[in-house]
Amino acid sequence: MGKEKLIELLNKGLELEHQAEAQYLSHATLLSGETADALTERLIEIAGDEHKHADLFRKCLEMLDAAPSIKMAPGHPAKANKDILKINLKDERDAVDFYRTIVAELQTCRAELKYEYEYIEHKLRHIIMDEEEHALELRTLLGE
Ligand SMILES: [Fe+2]
Ligand SMILES: [Fe+2]
Repeated sequence: MGKEKLIELLNKGLELEHQAEAQYLSHATLLSGETADALTERLIEIAGDEHKHADLFRKCLEMLDAAPSIKMAPGHPAKANKDILKINLKDERDAVDFYRTIVAELQTCRAELKYEYEYIEHKLRHIIMDEEEHALELRTLLGE
């Protein structure tokens, strides 16, 4: 338990980041209409953040001497601009929820991670803050 469960959750997070990057890059090619160029630029920028998040998850796993996953979580297809923004907004919110469960698991193994805890906690907090920012951007683009 504890550390093993944490490693499993960090790897699930890494697989979500693989998916998020691929999904944003895929969706960025599918946008249409007058706002397509601006939206494409934003989605590519967000994909860059997801790429960095995957790096951060790998660093956390390295800290725990665990092998980082090379798998990818299942993606969510969409075609119309609005559907693309909506599906990614949902994914961002789901990511925030899931990453909070990783933080909760991390807290339960604090004593076990005497020389790793703050490092991992800081990285997770950084990732969650970025996802909250992504959700805000998508919400703004949707006019919500
Ligand atoms: Fe991310
Ligand atoms: Fe994100």
